[in-house]
Amino acid sequence: MLTPFPQTERLEVPGALAGDLLKAAESLPLYDNKEFYAPALQEYVFDSIRDACPDGFDSLTTLIRVCLARSPYWVVVHGLRFDEGNRLFVAINRAFGELVARPYEKPRAQLVHYIQPATDMPCVGEGRESERLHTDAADWETPIELISMVCVRADRDGGGRSRVLNVEAVRDEVKNHLGTEILKRLEEPVPWQLAAYCGGGVTWRPVLTETNICWRRYTIDHALDLEGAKLSEEMLSALDAFGQVINTTKRPADFLMSEGDFLISDNTRTIHSRTSISDCDASDRLMIRSWIRAS
Ligand SMILES: [Fe+2]
Repeated sequence: MLTPFPQTERLEVPGALAGDLLKAAESLPLYDNKEFYAPALQEYVFDSIRDACPDGFDSLTTLIRVCLARSPYWVVVHGLRFDEGNRLFVAINRAFGELVARPYEKPRAQLVHYIQPATDMPCVGEGRESERLHTDAADWETPIELISMVCVRADRDGGGRSRVLNVEAVRDEVKNHLGTEILKRLEEPVPWQLAAYCGGGVTWRPVLTETNICWRRYTIDHALDLEGAKLSEEMLSALDAFGQVINTTKRPADFLMSEGDFLISDNTRTIHSRTSISDCDASDRLMIRSWIRAS
């Protein structure tokens, strides 16, 4: 049966269960990425694969749920074998809620989202946005609760290591480097620009609470620069100082995902990034990702 590794954030799937899950996934028809937007199809794929090996499927998803509920709020599952049609990926994710995404748009925005270094967003200054610790969907009225990812191919030069840091460690870093007054300030609401496909405009929420974090600096900057939202000088300098701490902290877990590794994390309690990749255009690193609205 499934056993957690000694580290709380790793699970190993036995070969027999991985084989049964793959077989169940491959017995289903192939679906287009666009079709997976339909909640009914997600449900069908989930039911079909789960029905083929209910005990194994439930023990895996129960253990993942236990890991997500406790610090550090993320877990890597080793040993799964994924089908090329992403049916097993959808089924496992559907155990935790509905898969959601921005509207379909080839080649980048898809429900099962393909992440390749060459198309990663550049950021202001050096590097790519994905190299800065952040939460996803900060430009949604309610950011999604869970993110999951499978490594299809790792970067052959060992770049693009995954980094994850949880809210307790972030609060600790803020307390140690900036003090409790700034920590309190970061618990006050700030403006976030909402995505045009969410209707646009601005919503207000804090960067930090006792239990949650939300961080994507450019989403705040867009609310200020493009939507006319206003913040005090004190808050602006607290955000700058916070960004500096986040961009230089040595605290994140740092690990290289290899082929077939499945990472799932709580997007409301962790921030994530990847390390740089020496030549983004040449790298054949491929990850698939989904956003899950937890149920
Ligand atoms: Fe991200």
